[in-house]
Amino acid sequence: MNKGIFITIEGGEGAGKTTLIEQLAHTMQQRGKTVITTREPGGIPIAEQIRSIILDRTHTGMDARTEALLYAAARRQHLVEKVMPALEGGQLVICDRFVDSSLAYQGHARGLGMEEVWSINRFAVDGAMPQLTIYMDIDPEVGLARIKSAGEREVNRLDLESLAFHQLVREGYHRLREQFPERIVQVDAGKAANVVLEEVILTIDRRFKGFFASDVK
Ligand code: TYD
Repeated sequence: MNKGIFITIEGGEGAGKTTLIEQLAHTMQQRGKTVITTREPGGIPIAEQIRSIILDRTHTGMDARTEALLYAAARRQHLVEKVMPALEGGQLVICDRFVDSSLAYQGHARGLGMEEVWSINRFAVDGAMPQLTIYMDIDPEVGLARIKSAGEREVNRLDLESLAFHQLVREGYHRLREQFPERIVQVDAGKAANVVLEEVILTIDRRFKGFFASDVK
């Protein structure tokens, strides 16, 4: 059985996942926890290579099922090489995106169907699901504008999708939250970063009293 904790952070483009993850990891490290932060697709060399194929802006002809299978393949390798060993070692793993991204983007927004996309992902994750998922909810118009104005990162193939696509992604996440209310906790990503961080820390402390027993007064 895993001794660690597996938390995933989800959300549309420009929700502020990267900032939250950095601050969250810092807080937990200050409490003396060993924290691993990682991301999907990627996190290890094989998966980073798959990532560059998926997100290449010139790959406009990529079939939706091919895309879903590549995400699932990257996920599998990343889980086996990085996430599972860290969990077995009792660490806190914070992962930027996981299976819910595939369900929202490929399943709902691309129209492949959440059930179908779950079936290939069930095979890929083989039971290794996060104990907690933080979903950072943001209006796609606001999120996409944030990315453009901040010049935060390079615009990738998925960013180039229409606003309607990103609205469907959000709708997909809302469905998932309704379907898995225990695992998925929604935060309003329109709020200031420090407020979001506080809310997330509160959620984690409540959820994992045992793990953080020494920190909670
Ligand atoms: P990334 O640059 O990591 O974007 P972000 O900072 O928004 O996470 O690019 C990852 C892109 O891949 C992002 O547009 C979401 C998409 N994605 C999927 O469509 N399905 C998936 O399963 C995953 C993990 C990501």
